[in-house]
Amino acid sequence: MSSSMEQSEVIIEARDIHREFSLLRNRVPVLRGVDLQVRKGEAISIMGASGAGKSTFLHILGGLDRPTSGHVLFRGRDVYDLSAARRTELRADSFGFVFQAYHLLPELTIEENVLLPVMRRLNWIHQAGRYRERAKELLDQVGLGERGQHRPMELSGGEQQRAALARALMSDPEVVFADEPTGNLDSQTGELVLRHLFALTQDQGHTLVLVTHNEQVAERCDRTIHMKDGKIDQV
Ligand SMILES: Nc1ncnc2c1ncn2[C@@H]1O[C@H](COP(=O)(O)OP(=O)(O)OP(=O)(O)O)[C@@H](O)[C@H]1O
Ligand SMILES: [Mg+2]
Repeated sequence: MSSSMEQSEVIIEARDIHREFSLLRNRVPVLRGVDLQVRKGEAISIMGASGAGKSTFLHILGGLDRPTSGHVLFRGRDVYDLSAARRTELRADSFGFVFQAYHLLPELTIEENVLLPVMRRLNWIHQAGRYRERAKELLDQVGLGERGQHRPMELSGGEQQRAALARALMSDPEVVFADEPTGNLDSQTGELVLRHLFALTQDQGHTLVLVTHNEQVAERCDRTIHMKDGKIDQV
């Protein structure tokens, strides 16, 4: 990590996160005290065996799933102290999500899918033209400039994943959360998606938290944490 990075502010922080799930009559502990500080502009990868709790942790960090105990602070504010409505707003304005399943809405065009994160903004009606420009720019950057009027089912898996990436970046999020964004893709398409992801996050000062099973992908991040049995493995 560069020294300038060490000085930059902590943008998101997890404090002693525990998460249990109820299965039948059992309480299954999945996260057992996870702490993490992520600095602004940093790219962090999370690795670990299947079932270690990586996705669960990413969802909690991203304000999508309330921990059983512990705190997630975004810019010093407890994400789970906010009302559900404010948390939704925070996610829409400040976070971008890229998951393995693309979650594109099939009835919307690619361009409309990319525009979704900003459509609920109050200024949407007045700024629609400007937002459309931005959506086109992002689609261009991921190589889908000519595909905006297509429906998701008319695109290949890799193209859908790139569309999902454009959508994640539409709101110019401060933090991008990615869960095995290349897991479904062949290595060449995966490389293309990654290059876009890194270009659009690191180069523009966004913060990236990326779950991956791939060493080479992890090596491209500033720092890697390893999870094991619901904890961060101190190696
Ligand atoms: N909603 C849920 N209800 C019950 N158990 C759950 C739930 N979500 C996750 N789990 C359990 O928590 C454990 C961790 O799951 P998680 O998805 O976080 O793992 P992971 O590290 O992302 O694994 P993978 O690399 O396979 O994606 C698993 O044993 C899983 O079965
Ligand atoms: Mg997972």
